Amino acid sequence: MILAIESSCDDTSLAVIEIESKKLLFHKKITQIEHCQYGGVVPELASRLHAVNLPKILEETKKFFPYLKAIAVTNAPGLSVTLQEGVMMAKALSLALNIPLIGVNHLIGHIYSLFIEKEEVKPLMILLVSGGHTKILNFNGIDKVCEIATTLDDSFGESFDKVSKMLGLGYPGGPIIENLAKSGECVVELPLPLKNSPDIKFSYSGIKNAVRLAIESNKYSKEDIACSFQKRAIEHLVFMCKRAIKKFHPKNFAIVGGASANLSLRDEFEKLSKEFNFKLFYPEMKYTSDNAAMIARAAIEIYKKEEFIDYKELKIKPRVEFMKCKIEN
Ligand code: KG4
Ligand code: ZN
Repeated sequence: MILAIESSCDDTSLAVIEIESKKLLFHKKITQIEHCQYGGVVPELASRLHAVNLPKILEETKKFFPYLKAIAVTNAPGLSVTLQEGVMMAKALSLALNIPLIGVNHLIGHIYSLFIEKEEVKPLMILLVSGGHTKILNFNGIDKVCEIATTLDDSFGESFDKVSKMLGLGYPGGPIIENLAKSGECVVELPLPLKNSPDIKFSYSGIKNAVRLAIESNKYSKEDIACSFQKRAIEHLVFMCKRAIKKFHPKNFAIVGGASANLSLRDEFEKLSKEFNFKLFYPEMKYTSDNAAMIARAAIEIYKKEEFIDYKELKIKPRVEFMKCKIEN
């Protein structure tokens, strides 16, 4: 078995997975609701809460200790002070139990949220939409991930968080805006970013500023703003993904990350899958947001390759880059 730890942002989570069967034997997560009142994650507070919650969950995993073959931990990307909490615990466990350590990239973890208790699907084009990232990736195995597109500024999820904050609503903004949008009309005119640029990339700052101006005009209800914003934000994703699909002709396409829970987003990609004839995948709802089950699942692949890391060498990396995919014209 492998024990996996996730603490890259505001979720404290541990999982235990069986290596051969890929069966998830234990999974628990504590989401830090304490950040709600601040309209975003406060890193120092998140770190202190991880320090309290990690040992609490660990206590419940003790019965698996004799069977553990490795400890896996998210070491990149994320908030440095929160990554540090999980990494310190992982190092201590690896030393105390005398078993190897595995560092897992959180974004690779999101990809493997698709494969919990399942086999990998590849090749796969992936839209990753979370609080920290908006990317189109090509996946062909754990060591074969390249980036087709990323965002120039805010991420998709972050833009929902910011719009929610501007409307005086809570955090995380994604579910709040999605819910509010249901009772609104999409009557506010907002720009479609980068539509005249030939590139495949994302930008959310323009939509966000237009939303700010709409709020300041006092002409629209919160529901109408939520509806219009969500529609445009998704249209931008669809617009750029269509370009990527036309270039790479994927047979399989997946949406992962916290914002992949958005049902309007899923609906739009269902339509795309019919238009371009690809198979569409999402993680189960409970694995869309940050969790250690996805880290554990990714760790199985790293374990099989025996890519272990010494506890003295395992470092946190708040930012990571993927290799760019080759785009042939
Ligand atoms: O993957 P995740 O749990 O954490 C990061 O790795 O960032 O994603 C959290 C993000 C937040 O920005 C949240 O507002 C967004 O995902 N989110 C959503 C929805 N549910 C969560 N965005 C849009 N619609 C949703 N239903
Ligand atoms: Zn995440």
